[in-house]
Amino acid sequence: MNSNVKLINLLITVLADTQVLLLKTQNYHWNVRGINFKSLHDLFEEQYLELFTAVDEIAEIIGSLGSKTTATWKEYTQLTSLSEGDSSLKSIKMIADLAKDQQIISDNIKHCLEEAESVKDDATVDAMTARLAVHRKNHWMLTSLIEDS
Ligand SMILES: [Fe+2]
Repeated sequence: MNSNVKLINLLITVLADTQVLLLKTQNYHWNVRGINFKSLHDLFEEQYLELFTAVDEIAEIIGSLGSKTTATWKEYTQLTSLSEGDSSLKSIKMIADLAKDQQIISDNIKHCLEEAESVKDDATVDAMTARLAVHRKNHWMLTSLIEDS
């Protein structure tokens, strides 16, 4: 029995969240419409490209801890707390939706980080700390677009 089961399960949830957020961000990159199309299309691209790299890093942490890595949409949709994207949304709702997800994923990463700290897995602590910084920045970028000044 792997002693890191709890940590692995939390990482698997973070992987599922990251995969779903990647697809949703890509969905909005493709389907956003309106006067701000170009800037939103570009911002969403920047974010989904980073998420694409992150997915591989998270999956390989799970593998290095001795577990198989989940890799089906069936598993991801069961594990994630994020909703699927809705390409019919107005651009401002897409931004709000992504901002909400950046917050949810940050909360799930924090749980994972706390568990990594408690089992003294410094490599996972570092990786999750880095993920947290990215999601905090993404959240700021998105909310700044829709907040009143
Ligand atoms: Fe593209």
